[in-house]
Amino acid sequence: MTKKRVYEIARDLGIPSKDLLEALVELGMPGLRAVNTVTDEEAELIREFFRDRPAPTAAEAPSPAEPEPPSKRHGKPRPPIVAVLGHIDHGKTTLLDAIRKAHVAEGEAGGITQSIGAYQATVNGRAITFIDTPGHRAFTAMRARGAQITDIAILVVAADDGVMAQTLEAADHIKAAGVPVIVAINKMDKPGANKDRVLQDLAKLGYTPEEWGGSTVMVPLSSLTGQGVDDLLEMILLLSDMEGIYGDPNGELEAMVIESSLDPGRGPVATVIVRSGTLRERDAIVVGGTSGRIRALLDYRGERLAAATPGMPAVVLGLSGVPAAGERVEYSDNPNEARRIAEGRTRATADERRAARPPKTFEELIQVAQTKQLVVVLKAASAGALEAAKHELGNLKADGVELEILHAGVGPVTETDVLLASAEQDMQPLIVGFAVKVDGKAARLAEQRNVPVRTYDIIYDLAQDVGRALRRLLGPEFRETKVGEVEVLKTFDIDGVGRIAGCSVRSGRVVRTGKVKVYRDGDEVFSGEIASLKRFTDDVREVQAGRECGIRVRDWNDVQPGDTFEIYTVEEIPV
Ligand code: GTP
Ligand code: MG
Repeated sequence: MTKKRVYEIARDLGIPSKDLLEALVELGMPGLRAVNTVTDEEAELIREFFRDRPAPTAAEAPSPAEPEPPSKRHGKPRPPIVAVLGHIDHGKTTLLDAIRKAHVAEGEAGGITQSIGAYQATVNGRAITFIDTPGHRAFTAMRARGAQITDIAILVVAADDGVMAQTLEAADHIKAAGVPVIVAINKMDKPGANKDRVLQDLAKLGYTPEEWGGSTVMVPLSSLTGQGVDDLLEMILLLSDMEGIYGDPNGELEAMVIESSLDPGRGPVATVIVRSGTLRERDAIVVGGTSGRIRALLDYRGERLAAATPGMPAVVLGLSGVPAAGERVEYSDNPNEARRIAEGRTRATADERRAARPPKTFEELIQVAQTKQLVVVLKAASAGALEAAKHELGNLKADGVELEILHAGVGPVTETDVLLASAEQDMQPLIVGFAVKVDGKAARLAEQRNVPVRTYDIIYDLAQDVGRALRRLLGPEFRETKVGEVEVLKTFDIDGVGRIAGCSVRSGRVVRTGKVKVYRDGDEVFSGEIASLKRFTDDVREVQAGRECGIRVRDWNDVQPGDTFEIYTVEEIPV
């Protein structure tokens, strides 16, 4: 039985993949939307459907029949923003170059264009924006600033090399970002290419190919010969249709810097990608601690643009300084206002830096955590050590708290690890190393971002500390110790104070800071704390057995002669 991919059927029928996807829903085959393959019979059904009904053209396509997925479908479909990640030398740059050569219209200035960190390819009349600064470092650096620019990640794996350390790392970064992924199995032209081995490796990572019943799209290709590259592009478009990638040109501005530099002739130059809203020449903007009126807006070929709409990369000229990658672009009413905001921010960050305490301790950081999820980046000296550490962490449990290993890899703790951890702003990140070092840059960044990093030589210590961190997230645990018992002999009501119990201490002692459980005829009728403890008219801290005292219970005036108080102290149990 031959199987065809959905987009191949669409191509055979000469219809856009999007229309085919809508037809699948109408035909009651929504399962096939999971970028799946189609059997001959199913293909025949689909063909019949389109024979009976002329395919709608893209221009007059009916509004989709299926319910709209929440949040995304605002505005209009926009070009997807795609980032390419993968292990060193697996062919990220070559792939981006191959796409650029085949699908990017060259600029008028003789086709010599400077890389601006992004470009747009045109495939079947539709645009795809590629972020041209490959590597998960850049990918996560942007996310660490709280913004997600990428819609789809391409994970490049060389067929002759298979899944390597940075493939694993990239996969973890992609998973943490929660963006859909397409795996490009590159270098298929090489004699040593072994696609099955790559598929097996990937399956272990949780990426199961469609041909094995999974749902991860994998495209074998060669960036060198160009074979399969168009399939990849088709899959990107198909996935974008399924994801519903929308942007509202009239909506609120959502744009981010992906690259920046200081050009001797043009001043600060920032490459910005717009996800939503529109940037225009002459707009007053604030970008981090820089500001200005947009003097010129250029496209990726260096040509003048009047406006940058959703999905477009654009070069912005006219800023007062060089903003950092990952910084958001915001509108302002006018350049003066923009300058005021930017200067305020610069001052604020300088103040923060001055006010910053030396790095917090591991314990302090964990204690302030408000979250119930601990995310861990784990590094170890060898694959064996890593497995052992993972196993130990897997055994840790604390009810109500989750431990998630965001990434586990072999080697020292690097800047990338810190970026990955610090991108988890809503959770409590923690980096632990087993028999590895922390490199200098990583240590500095961890300090800046307040990400706790700890290394261990003994696996037991590592597991114990992480276990403590987990339990601390639950908040402190307390231990109650009964210290004494008193009997209420009489009561006095004092205006403006409340009811005082005149008591005799039967056993143990009463402490001023203690808690009280009140018993009446054997039943507990109240539990609270001591508000005041007196011997005669003096406030005292403690009263021993055999003596009398006056006790006022906080917020409770119902005490009666004959009641018994059990007195407790409460202490925090160290974890
Ligand atoms: P880094 O940027 O260093 O992480 O590497 P990269 O992933 O960008 O790899 P790059 O594109 O630089 O390719 C590495 C080497 O693999 C180069 O010599 C490429 O010519 C070669 N290469 C890339 N793709 C293919 C391919 O499909 N087939 C073959 N035979 N060689 C390839
Ligand atoms: Mg490269």
